[in-house]
Amino acid sequence: MDGQTMIPTRIREKAMQLQACGHARILAIESSCDETAAAVVEDGRIVRSSIISSQIPLHAMYGGVVPEIASRKHVESIEPVVQEALKEAKMSLEDLDAIAVTYGPGLVGALLVGVSYAKGLAYAADLPLIPVNHIEGHVSANYLAHPGLEPPFVCLIASGGHSHIVNVEEYGKYILLGQTMDDAAGEAFDKAARVLGLPYPGGPLLDKLSKEGNPHALKLPHVKIAGKYDYSFSGLKTALINQVHAMRQRGEDVPAADIAASFQYAVVEMLSDKAVAAAVDTGARTVALAGGVASNSQLRAVMEGKCRAHGMDFRMPPPILCTDNAAMIGSAAFYRLMKGEIAGLDLNAAPSLRLV
Ligand code: KG4
Ligand code: ZN
Repeated sequence: MDGQTMIPTRIREKAMQLQACGHARILAIESSCDETAAAVVEDGRIVRSSIISSQIPLHAMYGGVVPEIASRKHVESIEPVVQEALKEAKMSLEDLDAIAVTYGPGLVGALLVGVSYAKGLAYAADLPLIPVNHIEGHVSANYLAHPGLEPPFVCLIASGGHSHIVNVEEYGKYILLGQTMDDAAGEAFDKAARVLGLPYPGGPLLDKLSKEGNPHALKLPHVKIAGKYDYSFSGLKTALINQVHAMRQRGEDVPAADIAASFQYAVVEMLSDKAVAAAVDTGARTVALAGGVASNSQLRAVMEGKCRAHGMDFRMPPPILCTDNAAMIGSAAFYRLMKGEIAGLDLNAAPSLRLV
């Protein structure tokens, strides 16, 4: 990571003091994709404010996120969003202990808006700057929703860009158990939704449509893949697209709700079976869910049922903390700060940053 060289002694000392006292009010900024968000989070667990400005309507007409439009909109939104977060928290810059920002993974132009803004704010307010991995943010949303949750636990992270099963051994320490070999789960949902004519991002709409459909209406292939806990969604997606095209060519009605329900069923079974197997095999007592797809109603219900059946505790954030937000970044930042991990003003965006 860049950003290690330009940390003044004064800032290092401030960070060490916060580490020693174990308390911090952090203003967190998130701009990795199509949400401009800011939040004030106290001690990694208490959300004092959380503001999310979504660009979804802007990108929907293009069927996906247009990176240049995203960057430009972040530039417009970041100042009012940060001001709103401070206002909602009834705080000013003087009340804060540190500034946190998502520096990767994500769209480089989008990330740079948040990173540059956070650097400017940290410099102006003379506060430590904490760099946060977006995926770690998703995992940390669980700390906000469940005050008693502490590592170790196994976490299934399913978002628009990532699908991972990790063992959270301790704060900030992850062991990779499995991951997708091709598409991310959210990406698969969005592509399946698109073929049914649903607007971007189709995941939430496909979830809704599925409630009216028969999950066993469509025969989808049972995907076999070498890694015991690895995923592959592209075969399922292609099978679905082919079947829909074939129906259309034959002039048949496309039963959208049945197709949505069958696809969702197949994806949820795969996600939950492998995550629960990984948790059982590693002897985990607690399983958590994270990422945008964690707001899928069926995934939430099925994971809960399967974990309970194996005698494991199950934790998930409320849907508003599953999709992109800055509160989760503020939580992750607190635990990084407690390890003394801060950045200098040479921090750069890291679009391909990995969690493990
Ligand atoms: O975590 P997130 O907000 O952004 C990334 O970091 O990628 O995830 C967004 C993804 C999108 O693909 C969206 O369609 C999907 O999460 N998603 C859902 C649901 N809500 C959001 N997928 C299925 N069912 C949902 N209810
Ligand atoms: Zn995300």
